[in-house]
Amino acid sequence: MATFKLKDHIYLINTLHWERRLFDELIPLPEGTTYNAYVIIGKDKTALIDSADTLKAFEFLKDLEALGIDKIDYVIANHAEQDHSGAIPKVLNKFEKAKVITNPKCAELLKTHLRIPDNKFQIIQENDLLDLGGKTLRFVMTPWVHWPETQVTFLEEDHIAFTCDFFGSHLATTEFITDGTPDVYNSAKRYYAEIMAPFRNMISKNIEKVENFEPLMICPSHGPIYRKPEFIINAYKDWISDKVDNLVLLLYVSMHHSIEHAIRFLEQKLIDNGVMVKTVSLSTADTGEVAMALIDAATIIVATPTVHASAHPLAIYYTFLANLLRPKTKFLGIINSYGWGGKAIEDLKNLFPNFKGELFEPISFKGMPDEEAMGKLERLASTIAQKHKEVGLL
Ligand code: FEO
Repeated sequence: MATFKLKDHIYLINTLHWERRLFDELIPLPEGTTYNAYVIIGKDKTALIDSADTLKAFEFLKDLEALGIDKIDYVIANHAEQDHSGAIPKVLNKFEKAKVITNPKCAELLKTHLRIPDNKFQIIQENDLLDLGGKTLRFVMTPWVHWPETQVTFLEEDHIAFTCDFFGSHLATTEFITDGTPDVYNSAKRYYAEIMAPFRNMISKNIEKVENFEPLMICPSHGPIYRKPEFIINAYKDWISDKVDNLVLLLYVSMHHSIEHAIRFLEQKLIDNGVMVKTVSLSTADTGEVAMALIDAATIIVATPTVHASAHPLAIYYTFLANLLRPKTKFLGIINSYGWGGKAIEDLKNLFPNFKGELFEPISFKGMPDEEAMGKLERLASTIAQKHKEVGLL
């Protein structure tokens, strides 16, 4: 619960959710999160851009009251997801004359997800303007960052871009405005990796739309505001590029140390070959850290024991997740230890249809890796180094 004067007639309502630790029942939030809404007061009309999560609607209304807002004419919905739209029904109850300004797709989703009545909407299209009296809002469609209806609102006179999830970060902080720090960079990267990465091809066009507006400030609806837009725009350009690092992401599960033994050996051989490694034990993994590494890694190795004739469920889960996140990874390897058979390798391969790179010959061994398996692991390390060289990473 916090309000902050951004500029004359422009206010931030920063609903701090320090204690939230999970989003979508999937994404870890080690730093909590915020839902940012903005109030813009023109000479004639007052607009509210986005709101707060349903869980925080009561708090949100209190913040509006604390700011002395006694009239809202327009509620701009940049995105229908409930962490930004959840408080809109309560805002409409309190400010009965307010209209929800949004695009047709977002209106459709707000009607179905929050049951906001049809007569509450005023529909806008690409590049429509809304005059508040000395403050003009422009609406630009930025689909698939990260839903089909996402849009950005520009405040023309002040050159401020209100981007909602786009460029956001799950970071609860009272440092409401940033010039760009390593902490903010990491939180924004984690956010991009978990939520935006599957849409990187779409993001490129949407970055261009924001850049064309020449913003002096980017105001997302999660995390700090960017006083230097180039900080986050350049970071996004890097993340969406085809560039990967000379890095192997080793994802492993080990029940009785056989896989762990193989992974430790492979890790050292990769280091000896000049390849960087990030090793993650999937039984204690943080989904966000894995997602972030998937942005950078040129190679992924999944190593699993056999459980009930298939891969370990954790290996299945993270392979499935990697497939959803559509990483830029160029090379993939699978390592499997078994007791008496099974089809773990086949099952993992089938879980990764979005992977379009090169699959190395899987390595499989019975129980603890024997001399032959160690030889294959050593050759795998050399092959990875060679492949990284061929694509200019080493
Ligand atoms: Fe922050 Fe897509 O909601």
